[in-house]
Amino acid sequence: MLIAKGLCARLGRKQVLQGIDFAAAPGAVTCIVGPNGSGKTTLLRALTGEIASTGWIGLDGADLRRIAPVHLAERRAVLPQASGLAFPFTVYEVVRLGLLGRNALSADAAHLPDRALQRVGLAGYGPRFVQELSGGEQARVHLARVLLQVWQPVLAGRPCWLFLDEPVAALDIRHQLQIMALARDFAGQGGGVVAVMHDLNLTAMTADRVTLLRGGQVLAAGPVAQVFSDTLLSRAYDCALRVNTPPPGGGAFVLPQAVA
Ligand SMILES: Nc1ncnc2c1ncn2[C@@H]1O[C@H](COP(=O)(O)OP(=O)(O)OP(=O)(O)O)[C@@H](O)[C@H]1O
Ligand SMILES: [Mg+2]
Repeated sequence: MLIAKGLCARLGRKQVLQGIDFAAAPGAVTCIVGPNGSGKTTLLRALTGEIASTGWIGLDGADLRRIAPVHLAERRAVLPQASGLAFPFTVYEVVRLGLLGRNALSADAAHLPDRALQRVGLAGYGPRFVQELSGGEQARVHLARVLLQVWQPVLAGRPCWLFLDEPVAALDIRHQLQIMALARDFAGQGGGVVAVMHDLNLTAMTADRVTLLRGGQVLAAGPVAQVFSDTLLSRAYDCALRVNTPPPGGGAFVLPQAVA
C-alpha cells in the first residue's frame, strides 16, 4: 500500500503541494488527474522520493524516505513526464538501463529487453537510434525501460510499483489502449500502478481509483463513478463538463470501447 498523509512540497518560492492525502493499493490502477499546474507531476515526484517533501509517505508499511535508493529502485520504476536524450543512444541501450543494478542476471534475462519492446509494440526496434524514432515511438522506448526495471509485478512476496507521468500523452489511440491494458495487466498480477493522466475517458476506462487535484490540493478522491461528476470535474477544470452526455448539436465524438 502506498499512503501519503499531509504531503507538502515547495518548489522554488511556490508551495506546490498543500497537505495532500493520497492512497494507492497494489493490484489496482490509481490515476491522478487535474488541470495543468495543479501539482500532478510534483505529487508523483514526491511519492517516489525524487523531491523533498514533508508529511508521511509509507510504501508497503515502511517509511519511504528511509528506504535505500538501491532497494527503492528494485521495487518501483518511474516514467517521467518528459525524457530527453542528449546523445545518440540505441533503443537497446536505453531499454537495458532498466536492468542496471540487478546482481545476477539469469540466462532468461538476456531476452527481457526484446520482450519489453514487444510489450510496447516496438519489436525489432532494438538496434535503431532513439533520436531517429517518432515522438510516440520514443515515449514507448522509455516505457519499455521502466517496465523492465520492475519486470515482475510481485517480487519476493512484495508488490512492485509503476509510477507513470502521462504515459500515453504522445500516443495514438491504439497504442494508448495497449499501454493502459499493460498497466491493468501489471495491476492484475499484483503490482501497483499510479498514473498521471489527462485523458479522462481513458482514465474512466482504466482506473480503479482517481485522485482529482486542483491548486495543489485534493478536490476529490475515490472510485471513478464518485469522482467523475459534472460538478467536481467542471470545478476542477474550470469549464463546463458533462459526464456521459453527448455534445449538443450532434457533434461527432470517438470513444474506445475497451482498454484491452
Ligand atoms: N521548479 C519549479 N519551481 C517553481 N515552481 C514550479 C517548479 N516546477 C513546477 N512548478 C510549479 O508548480 C506547479 C505544479 O507543477 P506540476 O508540474 O506539478 O503540474 P502538473 O499538474 O503536472 O501540470 P501539467 O498537467 O502541465 O503537467 C505549477 O504551477 C508550476 O508552475
Ligand atoms: Mg505534469
